[in-house]
Amino acid sequence: MTPPSITHPTLASPRSAAVIGLQWGDEGKGKIVDILTPSFDAVVRYNGGANAGHTVIINGERYALHLIPAGILTPNKKAVIGNGVVVDPEALLHELDTLASKNVDTSNLVVSSRAHAVLPYHKDEDELRERLLAGLASDQPFPNASAPANPTDRSLGTTRRGIGPAYADKHHRATAIRVGDLLNPDLLRNRLELICSIKSRVIPRLTSLPHEGLHTHFDPQRLFEKAAAWGERLRPYIHDTVYLLHDMLLQNSPLLFEGANATLLDIDHGGFPYVTSSSCSALGIGPGSGVSERHLARVVGVAKAYSTRVGAGPLPTEQRNPVGDRIRERGREYGTTTGRPRRTGWLDLVAVKYSAMVSSATEVAITLLDVLAGFDTLQVCTHYTIDGEKTDRFLPDAHALANATPVYQSLPGFPELDSSKVRSRADLPDNARRYVDFIESYLGLPVSIISIGPDRLQTLTS
Ligand code: IMP
Repeated sequence: MTPPSITHPTLASPRSAAVIGLQWGDEGKGKIVDILTPSFDAVVRYNGGANAGHTVIINGERYALHLIPAGILTPNKKAVIGNGVVVDPEALLHELDTLASKNVDTSNLVVSSRAHAVLPYHKDEDELRERLLAGLASDQPFPNASAPANPTDRSLGTTRRGIGPAYADKHHRATAIRVGDLLNPDLLRNRLELICSIKSRVIPRLTSLPHEGLHTHFDPQRLFEKAAAWGERLRPYIHDTVYLLHDMLLQNSPLLFEGANATLLDIDHGGFPYVTSSSCSALGIGPGSGVSERHLARVVGVAKAYSTRVGAGPLPTEQRNPVGDRIRERGREYGTTTGRPRRTGWLDLVAVKYSAMVSSATEVAITLLDVLAGFDTLQVCTHYTIDGEKTDRFLPDAHALANATPVYQSLPGFPELDSSKVRSRADLPDNARRYVDFIESYLGLPVSIISIGPDRLQTLTS
């Protein structure tokens, strides 16, 4: 029997879109989301937590967002934190207060009742695990990212925001708290009693040393009081976001999904184990929001004109030399979340093409092109050699990737970009245009947006 051919009305002509990082994070996704937001009715986060840092500059005012979708900065758009996000209520309230102090209306924020909460013990555990892996004593500072690698250091270089431990508890289930649970005092109290009894047994085993500011034993009553108070303040924002998003789709309202972190940090498809603990590629949208990727008409992959990485793990095109230093200083490559100096290097198109494939990018946004101005020659990685073999395939495994030597194509450099004169791609200096053309033809995808400075106005869309 032939099945009836009924198409759900919202799938007949998909109108939603996603903005996804194609490198190791910090590609400038916040700015691209901000540019695209006017065409959508909601901006939706589906993964990660306060480890992400999205910076948007509007009229010279800088907004650094960690949890709240960048769409909050556009009036009358819903800003949705989906079920796949891990929400640190304390960090979220701090962000809400900061936005309120800048007169940003936050009443359009909606937080999924099914998002998991990051609690203080997750941050203690993250820090203690990192210290144990690094082999550090309690009074030793973490080395900065540009210090020579220490071979006995096994740490992942996490943001120490409790992300990994919170996702681990989600998968452990019995020791997890969801945002909706903060509104249910009986359930919250019971759950915290169980959690504290387990955490107070496990976490002290991660260290034999006292650590200033860190806790290894947890008092359920004190945590209950804190968590219940956070819940009360967040109550107006907490809803079932899956129904909310599907109701919007039924009313023909297009959604913009904002990927946090980036495809090469994806728990399944990134360079394991130097990844974060969520599905950062476009593949995470379905489970992290309850909305199938079949609703997407566009996936905008965002890549910087060069490479950066913060934290540990291989970065094949890394330049630990004056080239890397120049990129770091011109690009102000210091973490939005942790302030750590980022590792820097030439553009790695092998990695970007792999990410575009995994996230099914339909187009690419190139950011920070202005940072490369002034170099005589630019290098772009088009292949790797591994054990003497040339390949154009990425290796989503840190140990294998560490053996990859980049093969570069040299391209001529370009002069400073005068953003008062460059209003479209055609206005770019010839060699800057050639650089973008090269990326486009290598990836086989159109470059639809080029960013040449931090402000909204320094963006070329034609
Ligand atoms: P975690 O997400 O804090 O567990 O950190 C795991 C790895 O992902 C570390 O190398 C972090 O530096 C990196 N990471 C997590 N979020 C971001 C981000 O938004 N930008 C850049 N790196 C990130």
